[in-house]
Amino acid sequence: MFYPEEIVEEVRMKNDIVDVISGYVKLQKKGSSYFGLCPFHNEKSPSFSVSPGKQMYYCFGCGAGGNAITFLMDYENYSFPEALKVLADRAGVVLPQEEMSGEARAQADLRAALLEINKLAANYFYYQLKHPQGRQGYEYLRNRQLSDDTIRRFGLGFANKTSDDLYRYLRGKGYGDLILKETGLVTIEERGTHDKFWNRVMFPIMDVNNRVIGFGGRVMGDGMPKYLNSPETKLFDKSRNLYGLNYARTSREKYMLICEGYMDVIAMHQAGFTNAVASLGTAFTIQHASLIRRYTDQVVLTYDSDGAGVKAALRAIPILKEAGVSAKVLNMEPYKDPDEFIKNMGAEAFRERIAQAKNSFLFEIDVLKRDFNLDDPEQKTRFYNRVARKLLEFPEALERDNYIQAVAREHFINYQDLKQLVNRLGSRLGQVLQTETQPGTSYREKKKEKEDGTKRSQRLLLTWLIEDPCLFDKIEGIITPEDFREELYHQVAQMVFEGHARGEVNPAGILNHFINDQEQYKVVAGLFHGELKESLSNEEQKKAFSETVLKVKKNSLDEASRRAADIAELQEIIKAQSALKTLNISID
Ligand code: UTP
Ligand code: MN
Repeated sequence: MFYPEEIVEEVRMKNDIVDVISGYVKLQKKGSSYFGLCPFHNEKSPSFSVSPGKQMYYCFGCGAGGNAITFLMDYENYSFPEALKVLADRAGVVLPQEEMSGEARAQADLRAALLEINKLAANYFYYQLKHPQGRQGYEYLRNRQLSDDTIRRFGLGFANKTSDDLYRYLRGKGYGDLILKETGLVTIEERGTHDKFWNRVMFPIMDVNNRVIGFGGRVMGDGMPKYLNSPETKLFDKSRNLYGLNYARTSREKYMLICEGYMDVIAMHQAGFTNAVASLGTAFTIQHASLIRRYTDQVVLTYDSDGAGVKAALRAIPILKEAGVSAKVLNMEPYKDPDEFIKNMGAEAFRERIAQAKNSFLFEIDVLKRDFNLDDPEQKTRFYNRVARKLLEFPEALERDNYIQAVAREHFINYQDLKQLVNRLGSRLGQVLQTETQPGTSYREKKKEKEDGTKRSQRLLLTWLIEDPCLFDKIEGIITPEDFREELYHQVAQMVFEGHARGEVNPAGILNHFINDQEQYKVVAGLFHGELKESLSNEEQKKAFSETVLKVKKNSLDEASRRAADIAELQEIIKAQSALKTLNISID
């Protein structure tokens, strides 16, 4: 851990987790916990719980869990010190100078330096644009009808014709070759050092927190490549960032507009559609979709109207659906992209097109139809069969029927006939479908690791002890932290037992110890929200508890006997093993 534990604890304790998470997720009180829709996976009914008592959150659907600090790390893509700083500021705690380990400090310093250099570069490019040397760039942007306000808001800039002036500027600011190489802004080779971008207008790419993490640069006029982009760096991961999201996320609209390019985002924002984002020429990924899902569950795709744009839309639709985002597709005809459309038709006409955007399923059917010559009876039949097969994608009868009606209406197919075709195909495919994995369950199943019985007993016992500290009395003299033979459980058990001895078990605080290891903190967060005994009757509970205690102890003794160093120790263990047979644990 980077900061002294007491400081981390102080920050955490002064930020009530329900307050913090309420800023992101709508929560409703149910019993002693709060529930809402999980922001980390797609779901329709809330399985994301926040416990004020434990100061922790846990999703029973996807297993995401943690405390207020890890929530910000996951949600806002903050590093640990960043999350801590935000919470400290929020609670008015003054953080001491960081106390980091060598490696951790190096990593944090590197990230901070890269952010600083990107910011310097963005300012440098902006300055060039606004001065005589950047005149050509400025005029290019103005010719594309961007206002000064827009240029400032998006921080657009200009990279000069000379091939290393940014490099020299950054060197002048005290940065060495080693770090500059990591920014992707310069290439340092034996032959010489060059700026990556020169003689281009520059588009800084910002993350959701308005920090510059990369750049795109466009040639002014024709030339190849049209856009040059920063390579992936420690800061810039193309599949996890969306251009314009820093502004779009605060838009009041219920939906987001997704387009292909820098200029489209900027043109839409300038025209008042501040809910537009772009995936910047890279294919739309499931990470993009999950990112969007944090802010909305509806999007309108405004990809280019050419073949590539249609293909991009067809690709994005199922990915969005998988993430729980429903999509519509906007018809841009006769223009190529939102930028051109708005330039020619204006914002009002664009707003109308948004209102008319087509349901993504019906869009897919339209595209499908283009492959068939409907004047030919045979091809027409094939088309209908393909449509019917596609309609079977809807698992719910009612929804399916709505779509059958819509398709029948749009494509002049008799509703009854289409319905019959779908049903017939459905029963024929029924068996096949049943053996395919059911959507929705697969995710959960993948998550559920198989764990062997002894591991499970240790986990259960630990969970129960945390849930109900009275149980400590029942295991006194029988179970110690050493009996938790799983290394991770052992660590947690030690802290839980120590906490109990002090009179206060502090789940969220314990979790802090595991904050640097994603996998571990997930498991530990799970411990604090593990399966409860509530579904069991009183008798069953008692039985389950004593069985579990015995299992943990037995396993522990078996393990100890395998490791025994001498006869005397072994004899002790054997004595304990036989004592165990007559042990009676009562929890009355
Ligand atoms: P487009 O070729 O559709 O460009 O590429 P555009 O957005 O209409 O740009 P203007 O209007 O001609 O200026 C869409 C997006 O694909 C990425 C860029 O992010 C661009 O905005 N792209 C395109 C590249 O990364 N490199 C390229 O060479 C071309
Ligand atoms: Mn364009």
